[in-house]
Amino acid sequence: MTTRILPAVGDVDAARSVTTLLSQLPDAEPAAPVGDSTQLIDTLARLAGESLDELPEVVLVHERIGPVPALELIREVSLRFPAIGVVLITADVTPGLFSSAMESGARGVVTLPLSYEELVNRVQSAAQWSAGVRRHLSTGAEVFTGPGGAVVTVSGAKGGVGTTVTAVQLALAAQASGRNVALVDMDLQAGDVGSYLDVQFRRSVVDLSTINDITPRVLSDVVFTHGTGLSLLLAPGEGESAEEVSDRSARQIVSALRTRYEVVVIDCGSQLQGANAAAIEMADTALLVTTPDVIAVRGAKRLVRMWDRLQIRKAEETVTLVNRFTRNTEIQPPLVEKITGTRMAETAVPANFKELQAVVDAGRLHELDSKSTVKQALWALAGELGIVKVPEKPEKNGARSGAKFKNDRGSIGRPRGGRRDGDSRNRATTKGAS
Ligand SMILES: Nc1ncnc2c1ncn2[C@@H]1O[C@H](COP(=O)(O)OP(=O)(O)O)[C@@H](O)[C@H]1O
Ligand SMILES: [Mg+2]
Repeated sequence: MTTRILPAVGDVDAARSVTTLLSQLPDAEPAAPVGDSTQLIDTLARLAGESLDELPEVVLVHERIGPVPALELIREVSLRFPAIGVVLITADVTPGLFSSAMESGARGVVTLPLSYEELVNRVQSAAQWSAGVRRHLSTGAEVFTGPGGAVVTVSGAKGGVGTTVTAVQLALAAQASGRNVALVDMDLQAGDVGSYLDVQFRRSVVDLSTINDITPRVLSDVVFTHGTGLSLLLAPGEGESAEEVSDRSARQIVSALRTRYEVVVIDCGSQLQGANAAAIEMADTALLVTTPDVIAVRGAKRLVRMWDRLQIRKAEETVTLVNRFTRNTEIQPPLVEKITGTRMAETAVPANFKELQAVVDAGRLHELDSKSTVKQALWALAGELGIVKVPEKPEKNGARSGAKFKNDRGSIGRPRGGRRDGDSRNRATTKGAS
């Protein structure tokens, strides 16, 4: 069996020497090196989107890769693509480095200067390990070990535009379709997901902020299981403790959640801080909610520009939803599209205060009537974003929901090559079930 190897090496000289040695390995199919962490993740996500079989067995990560530091990158790769054996290339031969590499999920370490023997050995054992995991995946393992679930962030152009209502209904729609869903309140200073769903629970995102290794056990202590089946990770009761959640811990929290849930919906509110910025950056879909009025659309534009300047998200990689839409407003979705430079959701959500008022006041948004036009639009949006499970058509026995899901997602417009791991996730389960 040939081993496909993808090296991630920033430095040109180092890349050359890695390439030269790899070309001498027996039964190996080395790809051209990628130069930075973003390229690596994007390449893997794209391949995983085609088929899990397209992923390389082995990824080599050079210690001086950037912008994401090597160990952090290894952690992300091993969380999102567990069927890949990652090997770190480093000049540091201390036991400390070795154990932190292993803790990050590396399957081996090759020391610099490179030696042929060592490289062969490490690549082979990582490849064997990867083959084992793939066998495990294809024989229908119960535990979810596929690449990460789909992450959807919901942000508001300004306060009060319906961000939380949207996030909650998207999560409920995905949950009701049979997906395993986490709803996270990252509007850390002003989070009210708990109030909308009638939950009082003292644990919050902040409790995870100091934990380095977020195990399933740790997660289950902090997550509240709602009567609807949704897993809730709430914002802290005291807004000032929001500061304790760094972008780094947000990244770890999102990574941990996406390995355990098929869909992770994150309410990011309308105030940008490090934590929700990290979530928006990692999201498969970043949704921006606005209302069709001048102030909110201006807010949307300001936010999109800021995301762009801070390199969190490009405008064209953002999907904008118009909430509280009415036919006779002057600001129609095409104009919002033009002003913000984002993609518009096909669905717009009508304004209907009457429908919402009673359930909102009672803190029971999950009991919104199915006849509600607001709910119907938001659930349609969930379908458009590809986070609901599409039932298999009975007449097509062999055809699995994976393919359908992929088409559905494709229909929301420009596919985001880099981060569409929701698809591959779906594929992984499909595979497991066959
Ligand atoms: N489509 C809609 N029609 C009528 N009222 C809405 C709609 N969407 C949201 N609302 C109301 O607007 C208010 C603010 O919603 P919320 O989701 O809390 O906004 P945000 O999270 O952006 O601050 C709530 O009272 C909610 O019921
Ligand atoms: Mg809110």
